[in-house]
Amino acid sequence: MPTFDLSRLDRFVGTSTTIRRPREFTFFSFDDTHVLKPLSTESLSYYYPALFDAPGASSTSVELSRGFDLFKQRDDTVDEHLDGLLQTLQAYEERILDRVRNGEGEIKDVRVRADIITWRGMMTKILTAPFDDMFGDFEMNATCFQVRCFIEENHAYKAQQNQVQNDRPPRRGEASQALMQYWGYKFESLSVLPRPWAECSRDEIEGREAVVVNNHPQYCSIVRTGIGTTSLVLAGEVDAVLGEKPQSPDDPIPWIELKTSAQPDLRNPKDVIKLERRLLKYWAQSFLLGVPRIIVGYRTSEGRLTSLSEIETQRIPGMVKRGQGLWNGNVCINMSAAFLDFLKQIITGDGVWRIMRRKNARAIEVFKVSESGTAEIIKPTFKAHREKL
Ligand code: A3P
Ligand code: MG
Ligand code: MG
Repeated sequence: MPTFDLSRLDRFVGTSTTIRRPREFTFFSFDDTHVLKPLSTESLSYYYPALFDAPGASSTSVELSRGFDLFKQRDDTVDEHLDGLLQTLQAYEERILDRVRNGEGEIKDVRVRADIITWRGMMTKILTAPFDDMFGDFEMNATCFQVRCFIEENHAYKAQQNQVQNDRPPRRGEASQALMQYWGYKFESLSVLPRPWAECSRDEIEGREAVVVNNHPQYCSIVRTGIGTTSLVLAGEVDAVLGEKPQSPDDPIPWIELKTSAQPDLRNPKDVIKLERRLLKYWAQSFLLGVPRIIVGYRTSEGRLTSLSEIETQRIPGMVKRGQGLWNGNVCINMSAAFLDFLKQIITGDGVWRIMRRKNARAIEVFKVSESGTAEIIKPTFKAHREKL
């Protein structure tokens, strides 16, 4: 069975291989009821701080548990495969085709090309694999269509992982998993406006605390990027934009990733390790979509939001190096470049493959689970669309 070794990380030490800056080329939204809207910015959110520490400011701390009973929570038991991403690529390609037909451009092949097309979350798991033994287990399904490799999450495995996490009884003094998850969404809801600040009414700005938290709407950015010799198309949710999206598509977008966390005690080595482990996730997730800034909302163990802190994504690897050095960003990048080269050699021709990493395993295994077809990864509508082009 083809196996990618993660045990000798010294192979990956050194300057990092070439990386292409992620550039958004299209996007989609899920609306308030999670209906897909290809090419729509409907659910794009605008950053606005949840707290102000100026003396006399109206909110210096907030209860994140407020409104938990009203939470409109998305059903994550549904397997969405790559549907949102592929339906958007289809709409994007059809729009270019229309323009070409109207004489507005001359492009021979409108198909979006990349060696690998997947969710950002899948690449986060690969990027963090060298340093995330304990919780870094995963399963993905991959298939090859028109020479390109498409990778989805193996939803059944993810559902089982979630179940184990949700069944874990809270430690003494700890809130339930469901409530802690709500705090994350509540913080997002407190930190954004539905339109740019200048276009919002006073009520919209001041009434954010009363807004019912709903995690159905999402804005997802689709970027082209590259690691080493592999070109990638990645799609992932972005929490908010700072200011507005720039006019020129060549300019980087000032995205904001929002996170909540307990305030670490930096004198306690255990807390520092926990922090560095968390920073690995923040960095990988944000780096892959080109999100330059992360706003962390610190909360007490009871869920009271007490302060905000801003972290620049590109500075995270250096922060960790100067701390306990739990992980190394260059190793993550070099290992991912090598792993993607390995994957491209295996995933060719017909069939469906599984990409699998077990808990504490120092290896990623790739094996065929079906000799033909593309399982549910690529739907007939996308195939029909592509075959028409
Ligand atoms: P926090 O990150 O503040 O805990 P994201 O930060 O990726 O935009 O996700 C938003 C929120 O969704 C998280 O807020 C958390 O509440 C929830 N969430 C995301 N991934 C999760 C996971 N793997 N397990 C449980 N909750 C998750
Ligand atoms: Mg998010
Ligand atoms: Mg977030």
